[in-house]
Amino acid sequence: MIEFEDHPRGLVRLIYASRATGGAVSSDMATAIVAKSIQNNRVSDISGLLVIGADRFLQVLEGPAGEVEQTFARVASDTRHSDMTVIARRAGGTRMFRNWNMACRHLGLGDAGALKAVGLAFFAPESLDEERALTLLKSFGEFHLQ
Ligand SMILES: Cc1cc2nc3c(=O)[nH]c(=O)nc-3n(C[C@H](O)[C@H](O)[C@H](O)COP(=O)(O)O)c2cc1C
Repeated sequence: MIEFEDHPRGLVRLIYASRATGGAVSSDMATAIVAKSIQNNRVSDISGLLVIGADRFLQVLEGPAGEVEQTFARVASDTRHSDMTVIARRAGGTRMFRNWNMACRHLGLGDAGALKAVGLAFFAPESLDEERALTLLKSFGEFHLQ
């Protein structure tokens, strides 16, 4: 069990979508990103979830504002992806993804229903607003816990 502080006044939840520069993301690349993220995010008290579908990423980062912004700046300059769209950057509240420093869901054919539930015929996370992005992230988070 990971023990996170809630930092009630200083918590930030940042959600963004991006596109992999090298085409469809391989499981090796996903594993490398997640391993590094877990290692760094543990030190930075960041929790979150990364969803990968074909060449798209949707990620939520939550934690102390300064740490989230520092991590996001590093992630944003990573040449493995581009076309970043910030969907939400919200201060306050409590953590919604407190189970992991970074969990990852690599989408498969069985995920069409969850996408359809938020109005997507395919994984195009850049078109989501905050509410639908959170709905999708939470539904994949629940899968992950099973
Ligand atoms: C889609 C994507 C998500 C990433 N998420 C994180 C993250 O949550 N935390 C993190 O530290 N690095 C993340 N990275 C990796 C960073 O871009 C960067 O390579 C890494 O933080 C460098 O860490 P280092 O300075 O310890 O080597 C992500 C990279 C990509 C492409």
